[in-house]
Amino acid sequence: MPLITYVDHDGTRRSHTVRVGSSVMVGARDNNMPGIVADCGGAAACATCRVFVDEVWAGRLPAAQPLEQSMLDGLEGEHPRQRLSCQITCTEALDGLVVHVPESQY
Ligand code: FES
Repeated sequence: MPLITYVDHDGTRRSHTVRVGSSVMVGARDNNMPGIVADCGGAAACATCRVFVDEVWAGRLPAAQPLEQSMLDGLEGEHPRQRLSCQITCTEALDGLVVHVPESQY
């Protein structure tokens, strides 16, 4: 299972293995990670699961699909590597992925 590291806004790092086929958001929720609210349960409809992909991983994730991209386009405080963690599906290729959790969600 891929190991995903979540970095809080204060720099605290927490790493958890996440089942292949699950999402980065579900991995956070199942491990009681703070900062990822996920109000809509993974439907790409709330943006409260937003994360910033570590720059080391920039360009290594599959591109956002149109539904996710439309949500990201409507957010304030745009960040160049922001993604909805519910739309990042875990694969073995994502082993070692690092995402940063914003100080607050919307
Ligand atoms: Fe709502 Fe990801 S959980 S957009």
